[in-house]
Amino acid sequence: MTAYDKLYIDGQWVTPVRGGTFDTIDPCSEAVIATVAAATEEDVDIAVKAARRAFDEGEWPHLPGTQRAAVLRRIAQGIRERVQALAEIEVRDNGKPLPEAIWDIEDTAGCFDFYADMADNFDATREKPVALGDESFSSVARQEPVGVAGAIIPWNFPMLMASWKVAPALAAGCSVVLKPSEVTPLTALELADIAHRAGVPAGVFNVITGFGKEAGAPLTAHPGVDKLAFTGSVPTGSAIMQTAARDIRNLSLELGGKSPFVVFDDSDLEAAVEWIMFGIFWNKGEVCSATSRLLVQEGLYQPLMDRLVEEIDKLPIGNGMDEGVLLGPLVNKTQYDKVLAAIARGQEEGARLLVGGERPAGMDKGYFLKPAIFVDVPEESWVWQEEIFGPVLCVRTFKDEHEAVRLANASRFGLAAAVMSGDDERAERVARRFRAGIVWINCSQPTFTEAPWGGYKQSGIGRELGEWGFHNYLETKQITRYDSQKPWGWYLK
Ligand code: NAI
Ligand code: MG
Repeated sequence: MTAYDKLYIDGQWVTPVRGGTFDTIDPCSEAVIATVAAATEEDVDIAVKAARRAFDEGEWPHLPGTQRAAVLRRIAQGIRERVQALAEIEVRDNGKPLPEAIWDIEDTAGCFDFYADMADNFDATREKPVALGDESFSSVARQEPVGVAGAIIPWNFPMLMASWKVAPALAAGCSVVLKPSEVTPLTALELADIAHRAGVPAGVFNVITGFGKEAGAPLTAHPGVDKLAFTGSVPTGSAIMQTAARDIRNLSLELGGKSPFVVFDDSDLEAAVEWIMFGIFWNKGEVCSATSRLLVQEGLYQPLMDRLVEEIDKLPIGNGMDEGVLLGPLVNKTQYDKVLAAIARGQEEGARLLVGGERPAGMDKGYFLKPAIFVDVPEESWVWQEEIFGPVLCVRTFKDEHEAVRLANASRFGLAAAVMSGDDERAERVARRFRAGIVWINCSQPTFTEAPWGGYKQSGIGRELGEWGFHNYLETKQITRYDSQKPWGWYLK
């Protein structure tokens, strides 16, 4: 049984030094689910020192990769044994529909298995000879774990985001201090319990729950941390980058987006409806890669809007635990108020609200919102340019391919982009013109552990997942030798 009111540090469940706690809320009932430990900088210091010790003096970074792989596979197994229970915790903490939560948890297990494979193959591939231009010398490039990683994650995919950082870091031989979001802290603590049972050595994996200022900021500033990995908002990412700059700390950032979905009028109408809806309504639109800007070619505009409104009017909204529900409550009151304010702002800016944007009739409790579509959205407006992070779709029309690409790329973000067309060549061409790190053709959102994930422009730095995510947690060292026992002949001629 996991102790939600304790921190997991150095292989033990401990009470925070100052004894603080906070409540985590079920956004459906607005009731308290659990009281959770609130870490402060004293706890961060203890956790980082434990991670430091495990890395500097422990065996974890020096084990054969196959042994770390075995531990990661046991973590994956531990997650799989509890998929239903973990998914239910995620539903209560975050509000997402149960089938989506089950998906998250299965992907979380899959992520640990994927990086177990990387750890298995690591020793055979970590050293590569480097051809030098001087035959007196030979050199190898060797990959080594970067050290102690501080991972800070958001609330939209709580356990999955933990795995995207923790799995590659552990596979590489790093030790980790994980700080989950204060909005959804529970599954990170469950992960600590699972990792503990899987045999992760003390200090190699630590979880500190708490707030951004009190627990997150001291983690980013701690001199014992070698690498920071963050997923969340742009302002917080920027603050973390500024802190990291002071001590030149290795950093990767996965930040926000306002991703475009370009739909040409030769697209299949029903396929377009399906992927547009998935692109902005799955996980309540609280998705960094949500395709929240729809660019639709003029000829398809009216039939597409008619079909979207029809589908939104019958979208099953409710408790994520109830069968058939496809849209749960927004994650908390702060986010709910933020999304409602964005909708009001869009109206003030002259965008036309075609459907939704209000509390569904008869649902008085919980942070429920009927999905909204804005049309005629001015290009310079805040709602067109900025991340709303809720089920709000902004729509504009375009005439031709050139205009579509221009509108799509006119953003300070570049996380994702999608294109749909009956003309494969055109779709492939547009995909290559997007200035974004993740591009989907004839779909939106499908995410695979094997493929690189991350953004251009203000959407971030670095890539997670796949081999790219593994390299996030590696340093490269050159080992160069002089292949002779005789003097080199510079001073000693
Ligand atoms: P946030 O980016 O502030 O929080 C993400 C994580 O960073 C949390 O664990 C938080 O405790 C931590 N944090 C906050 N301030 C910190 C600091 N100064 N130093 C170190 N860690 C810190 O996001 P938040 O407050 O949860 O949501 C704010 C907005 O960000 C949302 O309304 C949404 O628009 C956006 N967001 C974007 C996400 C994405 O994946 N792109 C994910 C979550 C939120
Ligand atoms: Mg919660």
